[in-house]
Amino acid sequence: MRHQPVMPEEVLNYLDPKPGGTIVDCTLGEGGHTEMIADRIGIDGRLICFDLDSELIEITKERLLNIKPRIDFLNANFKEIGEKLDALGISKVDGILADLGVASYHFDVAERGFSFREEAALDMRLDRQSGNTAADLVNNEPIEKLERIFREYGEEKNARAIARKIGEERKKGKIETTLRLAGIVESVARKKYHEIHPATRVFQALRIAVNKELEGLSEFVHEAVERLTLGGKLVVISFHSLEDRIIKNSFNYLALECVCPPEFPVCRCDKKAEVHILTRKPVIPKDNEIEGNPRSRSSKLRACEKI
Ligand SMILES: C[S@@+](CC[C@H](N)C(=O)[O-])C[C@H]1O[C@@H](n2cnc3c(N)ncnc32)[C@H](O)[C@@H]1O
Repeated sequence: MRHQPVMPEEVLNYLDPKPGGTIVDCTLGEGGHTEMIADRIGIDGRLICFDLDSELIEITKERLLNIKPRIDFLNANFKEIGEKLDALGISKVDGILADLGVASYHFDVAERGFSFREEAALDMRLDRQSGNTAADLVNNEPIEKLERIFREYGEEKNARAIARKIGEERKKGKIETTLRLAGIVESVARKKYHEIHPATRVFQALRIAVNKELEGLSEFVHEAVERLTLGGKLVVISFHSLEDRIIKNSFNYLALECVCPPEFPVCRCDKKAEVHILTRKPVIPKDNEIEGNPRSRSSKLRACEKI
């Protein structure tokens, strides 16, 4: 099923794209948000869309063939926003959206290795041209590191037992497929009635580790704000508490007027508030959205405005 854009109304409200505006969509995915933004900015607008996944870009490009604004598709990491905008000769933009994580496509195409419901090679790379696969991590990382990945990125309470079991199993032969890994997890953490599949958290954790999803996020927020025009908006949707915490802390820092220690009688730092936070608390989807799009359940939206 095609990816349903998360919190579509809220994204448009906070991003507030205007006719003729220039907007960066950091996470093109299946183009759901992109299409909505394109409608707002119209024929005189400009869109710059990033995605790490070259295969998905090709599919989405085809779908967006008749889109009105000029659109640049960049098969690149959005964390390189500064240098990529420089290369396009663009110094400032009116809005930036980042809808973090993976698209429905990644779970639907079994061969990408994100789903534990079908047999496939344990890959999970968004960019299939580079980096370690999930199989590389599972077979080569020390058990302690796997345990940490499962605990921190998956919030998996059986992290230690699962990591140890992987350690035993990989001695018998490389763990190369999704179903073999799911079976190993299930042998340690059996599914209880009404609970999510025990492999869900382990697969999520590996995906975050493989794609280094949390690395450089804070630097990205700083760089993105740097690139906004006055009044420009940055909107970030995250799906994981660690991710949301990084976004929240980065926004809070950028909104600070002063970072002097409290014992200083007068301010001696050069810090200036660079943003006004538009969402004191993260915005979450309404119940009817969660009903229609269960994937939106864990999403949190934060937005700020450049001042
Ligand atoms: C949640 S989906 C975006 C869905 C999209 N907003 C839509 O409505 O269809 C996230 C997308 O961002 C891409 N992605 C994740 N991390 C990325 C990164 N660091 N740089 C570029 N693209 C990334 C993924 O490949 C995926 O297609």
